[in-house]
Amino acid sequence: MTISSQPYGTLPDEREVRLYTLTNNNGLSAEVTNYGAILVSLSTPDNEGKMDDIVLGKDSLEDYLAGHPYFGSTCGRVAGRIGGARFEIEGKTYQLEPTEGQHGNSLHGGSEGFNSQLWNAEVITEDEVEKLRLRITDPDGHNGYPGTLNCSVTYSMLEDNSLQIEYQATCDQISPFNPTNHSYFNLRANGDILGHSIQIFADSVATVDENSTLIGRRDPVEAKYNDYRKPVCLGDLDKIEVGNGDIHFFLNQGRTALPKTAAIVKEPTTGRVMEVLTTEPGVQFYAGLFLSADGSEIGKAGVQHDTKHAFCLETQDYADSINFPEMGNAIIRPGETYNSTTIFRFSTEPTVT
Ligand code: BGC
Repeated sequence: MTISSQPYGTLPDEREVRLYTLTNNNGLSAEVTNYGAILVSLSTPDNEGKMDDIVLGKDSLEDYLAGHPYFGSTCGRVAGRIGGARFEIEGKTYQLEPTEGQHGNSLHGGSEGFNSQLWNAEVITEDEVEKLRLRITDPDGHNGYPGTLNCSVTYSMLEDNSLQIEYQATCDQISPFNPTNHSYFNLRANGDILGHSIQIFADSVATVDENSTLIGRRDPVEAKYNDYRKPVCLGDLDKIEVGNGDIHFFLNQGRTALPKTAAIVKEPTTGRVMEVLTTEPGVQFYAGLFLSADGSEIGKAGVQHDTKHAFCLETQDYADSINFPEMGNAIIRPGETYNSTTIFRFSTEPTVT
């Protein structure tokens, strides 16, 4: 495993941004920029050894700065939605920016969330593995959140063909905290994802209202709808909508000390298989429902991304734990060190014809 880096451009305030390339001995590679701790590309082989970039993204820093739907982004402090963009801690009310104007929710940490911050980058060696460690200090009150938070996100491309992402954080006040990686995958590397089969090891989901607001309810998965405990080909579902294509799953294993399998995705024409392992107790499955249906979402090399052209598996806790503490623990407290690991592991199977 080696890590190289190159300039990636400058921010409007002149700060320099870099692009890091993490390559393992089998030729799998990941490009990560310290702007937003974004995973820019991820090349993995199909079952004939052909490498393809299987994540959506943009061609340049300028294109990311112009706006995008969290392609490859590190989301935080809170990935997902805090209802009404407000919460109370020890009698004090905190008002966040309602980024989803029409519903008044705060989504993915606010308009200056982790995904738009410049992270300090350092290549480190840990357990004989070279890793890219990205760090930020998120000041007290930034995006409305309490406490000064120190956070690191560490990427490594392991020799077992896993992209590993480790999170660590401390905070000097109680704060909601629920980071994730928002990569959009397409294991076929183009077109829609309807041929993908997906398996998620979860018996229950977090119910939402018509505005996708979490309502503090947990319901069992429903057969032929959002029951992915056995592999489901997405194209076999009658419809893909918020309740089965943009929904938080409570993983049966709960929070674990070591990463455990949360989901397995297979793409039969290329034979690509992706296993998602995590220490987190849940995962938001997002089938790219709101990728533009009008062709206005342009990705790399001018490609247009339509709805359901990629999926995300955003490992996390229940985003609105601060308002519904019985549903999860997406909260960091002084004196605690938050540790979390998610692994995207790649392999292939024979092509199904
Ligand atoms: C959310 C979607 C949202 C998407 C892009 C996902 O995590 O669940 O509702 O459209 O992120 O912001």
